Amino acid sequence: MNFLELIRKRRAIRQFDSKEVEQEKLDYILECARFAPSAVNIQPWLFFIVKSEEKKKDLQKAYPNRWIDSAPFYIVACADSEQSWKRSYDSKNHVDVDLSIAIEHICLAAAEQGLGTCWVCNFDPIICSQALELSEHIHPVAIIPIGYHSSVVKPQVRKPIKEIVKTI
Ligand SMILES: Cc1cc2nc3c(=O)[nH]c(=O)nc-3n(C[C@H](O)[C@H](O)[C@H](O)COP(=O)(O)O)c2cc1C
Repeated sequence: MNFLELIRKRRAIRQFDSKEVEQEKLDYILECARFAPSAVNIQPWLFFIVKSEEKKKDLQKAYPNRWIDSAPFYIVACADSEQSWKRSYDSKNHVDVDLSIAIEHICLAAAEQGLGTCWVCNFDPIICSQALELSEHIHPVAIIPIGYHSSVVKPQVRKPIKEIVKTI
């Protein structure tokens, strides 16, 4: 599988099988997240592996869409907005850029391992932060449900290259 094939294999999966995910696969996925690049190599992230039924239920309250219940576990990718790099010119905080790279490493690594994921950002951050008992400067960026799946997904729809690339 070349890189484009892997990219196309990763899809937003919203229905999971109950089959447990092997610890080695989870370790591999987390190692892929760990090696993500970040501004000034600050690595301003923290990953919660949410497996307990109690904590999963708490997160389901933060994202009350029933499909997410079927995932065997969730990774919640959190950002440390105090540690992260701010650009001197305009103070832009790059924490979401850093987190996005690490999250996509997780999703691509999972796809390579035959697992499904979905980026989930449309959750209530207050409920999520309370569930994970996060300190003030740590923010949940995405909940990533992970698991095996047998979903058939529609073909990816993307804008044509001509529309998104300008050669000047
Ligand atoms: C930043 C971001 C936030 C997203 N949030 C949600 C979400 O809250 N719920 C959901 O079902 N899908 C969510 N998605 C998944 C997108 O809908 C999905 O990636 C997009 O439709 C493209 O489909 P594909 O991932 O199968 O290629 C999110 C994706 C991204 C990148």
